[in-house]
Amino acid sequence: MAQFWKPGAERPRLIDDEEGGVLFYASSSSTSSGIGYSSIEKQRQRLPVFNYRTAILYLVETHSTTIIVGETGSGKTTQIPQYLKEAGWAEGGRVIACTQPRRLAVQAVASRVAEEMGVKLGDEVGYTIRFEDLTDQNVTRIKFLTDGVLLREMMDDPLLTKYSVIMVDEAHERSLSTDILLGLLKKIQRRRPELRLIISSATIEAKLMSDFFCISKRRKGKGAEEHGPRPEPAILSVQGRGFNVQIHYLEEPVSDYLQASVSTVMLIHDQEPMGDILVFLTGQDDIEAAAQLLTEEVQNQKKKSSRLIVLPLYSGLPRAEQDLVFSPTPRGQRKVIISTNIAETSLTLEGIVYVVDSGFSKQRFYNPISDIENLVVAPISKASAKQRTGRAGRVRPGKCYRLYTEEYFLKEMPAEGIPEMQRSNLVSCVIQLKSLGIDNILGFDWPASPAPEAMVRALEVLYALGILDDDAKLTSPTGFQIAEIPLDPMISKMILSANQLGCSEEIITIAGILSVQSIWVSIRGAQKELDEARLRFAAAEGDLVTYLNVYKGFLQSGKSSQWCHKNCINYQAMKKVIEIREQLRRISHRLGIVLKSCDRDTEVLRKAITAGIFANACRLETFSQTGMYKTIRTSQEVYIHPSSVLFRVNPKWVVFHSLVSTDRQYMRNVTAIDPSWLLEAAPHFYQHQTANYVAY
Ligand code: CDP
Ligand code: MG
Repeated sequence: MAQFWKPGAERPRLIDDEEGGVLFYASSSSTSSGIGYSSIEKQRQRLPVFNYRTAILYLVETHSTTIIVGETGSGKTTQIPQYLKEAGWAEGGRVIACTQPRRLAVQAVASRVAEEMGVKLGDEVGYTIRFEDLTDQNVTRIKFLTDGVLLREMMDDPLLTKYSVIMVDEAHERSLSTDILLGLLKKIQRRRPELRLIISSATIEAKLMSDFFCISKRRKGKGAEEHGPRPEPAILSVQGRGFNVQIHYLEEPVSDYLQASVSTVMLIHDQEPMGDILVFLTGQDDIEAAAQLLTEEVQNQKKKSSRLIVLPLYSGLPRAEQDLVFSPTPRGQRKVIISTNIAETSLTLEGIVYVVDSGFSKQRFYNPISDIENLVVAPISKASAKQRTGRAGRVRPGKCYRLYTEEYFLKEMPAEGIPEMQRSNLVSCVIQLKSLGIDNILGFDWPASPAPEAMVRALEVLYALGILDDDAKLTSPTGFQIAEIPLDPMISKMILSANQLGCSEEIITIAGILSVQSIWVSIRGAQKELDEARLRFAAAEGDLVTYLNVYKGFLQSGKSSQWCHKNCINYQAMKKVIEIREQLRRISHRLGIVLKSCDRDTEVLRKAITAGIFANACRLETFSQTGMYKTIRTSQEVYIHPSSVLFRVNPKWVVFHSLVSTDRQYMRNVTAIDPSWLLEAAPHFYQHQTANYVAY
């Protein structure tokens, strides 16, 4: 496909240009390439944040909250926790916490910091993500964790007493958990004035955060903090030292951004001097597809003297492959990293000179009217586009190829993204706050208020799940048990119902499988093999029962990787399932659940499934020849995803675990049910809606 590039019309200017959207930073006196440092210590000292070490420590000492804004790669995440430790904030058994929205980033920065400090990961420096804890209570002093995990820790220790400083990193991402955490930390600060917060990010609206954390004048008037830290937040801006990045736009829009990114990479590889390429696509599927296309292109061009190393980067990528991404590019070769927006600000990749920006990312969207939440490939904001561009100018002047037109960028691209809080289903959020004793959720002090309709929907579901009582309080033992299990409340409810129905062994396996991205390996061009493999395990009852067949086969094979390979099953994912299952077994034990198997009585199994995800029930439209279903609650049109074992089987009644939307809304992880189970599972919810249907 021919693409016509034209350079952006704007003139290069120094310093980050707010209006124009072109990133040019004032280059500091040092123009070192960042390559070939002699020691880790020297490397640390060359990071922009090093010049601010004293200032940061002073501000943290004297202010309750410090807001630190600095370009990606300036050293915020890896250095600030170390500075704090060096200054004594981890003495007396205290711990310094640094949160990240993404699990992969938690692992990557923790291992980097352990390496810089010359300690074993899990000792002095550790990390915790859901289902994986690499810390030692007695030894770990710097702890990286997802903001979701820190929220969970509050259930045992509401004031987070073991932490002296909590650094909420990547705050500009405005993830759901980050926003909940910020709201709660503000409350904690009132009770624990000695706690210090650092809010750090690449592009935060510092003023917004500063206003949010400013402790009210009324309190200040009391003079309570005369000798303590100052209540108004300090703002520090770390000047980066990026290089100019020349921006190119497409002359005409393209319809296939995946193909367009592949040809752009080949164009750069053919025509531009050495330097690594970073491509922003949206998710594992299109990243793997692009990687494969590129690998084929490279193989077809055997004459080429310089090699192109193609590497994917997305969450859920096995450790060994992650390491390849971060390792230096061999001399005379060029790396192309194809990434989700995790490389936008969360991770710093060295050596990138060219960026290809598809203009899209995968985003969560929730519609409270239809009560549908799904991950959608959606256009990014100008703020994101700027960040992506900036990735090209870290080691020398770079180039950014935007796969959209300049006119689109200027006139149509939104300036900022919408906080996740305002585009999410709030069920998990509400249960978390309720379990922390925060009952007036609408009156909660949020950095961005969620939509009242979304809140009402969440309360409705929690009530139907038996988690909240008539006063919307979390009082029932079921409610507390569900809050204890670190899963989507609907899946937690499945486990509790399975306990009553006698199929908890099977349900925790299913819960484990639903917690990993996919247990199937999809290779472009090998769709037939995958479909055949799926058929070997297929159960007429649906995908979740099919998973049990896969799990059983995996155990029978002696957890063999060869067996996985033969059956198009992701071995790494299955190992993870075993780990998660083991943790769920322990949690269940703590909650007094005695694991019991139903010996494949699929009826009780499906009843337990229905008890959890009853809200996602659908009925086949009988007049429809196309397999159209409608959701019971909101009459939305949905279809069974082609990857489901029930595709084209079309049972009359189904429940699904999640939706994906492309040209249509597709249900994933579908189970065939009997509609009477819905009334059993959630009488309040379905009394009116299903009465007619069941008779039908
Ligand atoms: O947080 P911020 O974006 O400001 O920077 P950082 O993540 O602390 O990265 C600082 C430096 O550490 C960069 O030069 C990275 O290349 C390097 N780093 C690394 O080499 N490997 C990692 N896993 C993480 C950071
Ligand atoms: Mg960082």
